[in-house]
Amino acid sequence: MTDTATESSPSTSGNNLVEIENLSAGYAGVAVIRGVNLHVGAGEVVALLGPNGAGKTTTLLTTSGLLKALEGSVSVLGEPSNFGAPHKTARLGLAHVPEDRSLFFGLTVQENLRLGLRGKRSDQAAGYESALDLLPALRPLMNRRAGLLSGGEQQMLAMARALVSNPKVLLVDEMSLGLAPIIVERLLPIVRDIANETGAGVLIVEQHVHLALEVADRAYVMSHGEIVLEGSAEELLQRQDLLEASYLGGELEEEAS
Ligand SMILES: Nc1ncnc2c1ncn2[C@@H]1O[C@H](COP(=O)(O)OP(=O)(O)OP(=O)(O)O)[C@@H](O)[C@H]1O
Ligand SMILES: [Mg+2]
Repeated sequence: MTDTATESSPSTSGNNLVEIENLSAGYAGVAVIRGVNLHVGAGEVVALLGPNGAGKTTTLLTTSGLLKALEGSVSVLGEPSNFGAPHKTARLGLAHVPEDRSLFFGLTVQENLRLGLRGKRSDQAAGYESALDLLPALRPLMNRRAGLLSGGEQQMLAMARALVSNPKVLLVDEMSLGLAPIIVERLLPIVRDIANETGAGVLIVEQHVHLALEVADRAYVMSHGEIVLEGSAEELLQRQDLLEASYLGGELEEEAS
């Protein structure tokens, strides 16, 4: 059962860019997430939090059509996101920065970015320059092979590759993986800028709970495949006790007022 941090926790509205209802999904027919309800509106940054193995990556994979829903539904920009058709959700305007980054290490930064353009020439794509404006550290590295970039530079490239397509929905799975906290502090606000400047809906999976809540509007906390807590970022930052309990799998009997 889901706890809400306060009574004022927002409910589903009519114009969500991502709408997940009663979703169960998993591997080899065995559900590892169950009954997930989640939505992301235009211009919103939503954080999906929770301990290792909670089901965050599984939720993102199902949202972009890379994993089959066993029950329930996912809609992206008003269209059902079906398993086996991630290209369709991509064409609609969804970009997914996966946990493993999926960069082409033998290709240069520029070549990796061109792959994000899906056929458009870089001089035709509005998102190309703005992606580099948001991540200027990539500019001097354009001709370097992705495999020779540092971990942080690879994260930036994965983000930039998602951004060049001017996404309306951006899913980012652990942007901060393996990065120094000071770099995370610099990178995370970029997703806030993207939502503010382009009106995209952004769903971030993040282990740095407090940093994520600093940039997010709302958050969901998953544990053992279910959403156990949700609320505005502001409310959750004030309810450290509820956050900790949801991570530790404790009882969430107390409702905030
Ligand atoms: N390919 C797979 N085959 C079988 N089980 C899997 C597979 N991928 C993940 N799982 C299991 O599904 C559950 C949820 O995994 P998931 O990767 O969604 O968690 P997560 O919240 O993203 O964790 P982390 O924070 O460690 O990345 C875990 O129990 C995991 O072991
Ligand atoms: Mg994961």
